Amino acid sequence: MRQSVDLRHACRLVNHGPTVLVSAEHGGRRNLMAAAWSMPVEFTPPRIAVVIDKSTYTRELVLAAGTLALNIPCRALADVSYTVGSVSGRDDPGADKFACYGIGHFDGPALGLPLVEGCVAWMECRRIPEPHAEQAYDTFYVEVVSALADDRVFSAGRWSFRPDNAELHTLHHLGAGRFAVAAQTVQGRLLPARGRGT
Ligand SMILES: Cc1cc2nc3c(=O)[nH]c(=O)nc-3n(C[C@H](O)[C@H](O)[C@H](O)COP(=O)(O)O)c2cc1C
Repeated sequence: MRQSVDLRHACRLVNHGPTVLVSAEHGGRRNLMAAAWSMPVEFTPPRIAVVIDKSTYTRELVLAAGTLALNIPCRALADVSYTVGSVSGRDDPGADKFACYGIGHFDGPALGLPLVEGCVAWMECRRIPEPHAEQAYDTFYVEVVSALADDRVFSAGRWSFRPDNAELHTLHHLGAGRFAVAAQTVQGRLLPARGRGT
């Protein structure tokens, strides 16, 4: 089910704007938050921008460790996504969202970061230090160093959202814990040129 994704195709994992779960670990502490705001900014090497607010505990761990993971949840993880995006690991320094909410995880292949079980894609990333963007816009630029995906819904470098894998469709945040799921796809075709306008 879990297959590695060629880094050339890693940006396609977030091309369609899914909600991601940002996981991070440093000094024996690990944490997880939801992020609706992420986007690819470079195909090769694969680079992604993600907004991580100053108020978040995750940001503290990312800055300390210099690494983070982007986990892409599916429909079945809507409650997990909303929950980890609604409570802070900072509120209770002893709390571990993974343990607290029974969220399974496994070690990332390149950096050993905690990756969330049940997601449909995973990327381990290194922070590209951009202090101005981080401070002014809460935007972190990261480079993907490993990518995995569930081949029931992403294979040969493409997402395949079908009725028979509906539980694996990605989440798109509408606000207040409501998500749209990636359900239907449409193939755009090149329009025939009608000739030059005058
Ligand atoms: C669906 C969803 C999407 C979110 N998107 C973002 C985001 O893009 N950037 C951000 O900084 N916070 C976002 N949040 C809020 C954080 O996930 C939230 O502040 C979280 O509790 C931070 O956890 P932490 O303090 O343990 O790191 C989102 C929350 C939800 C529920």
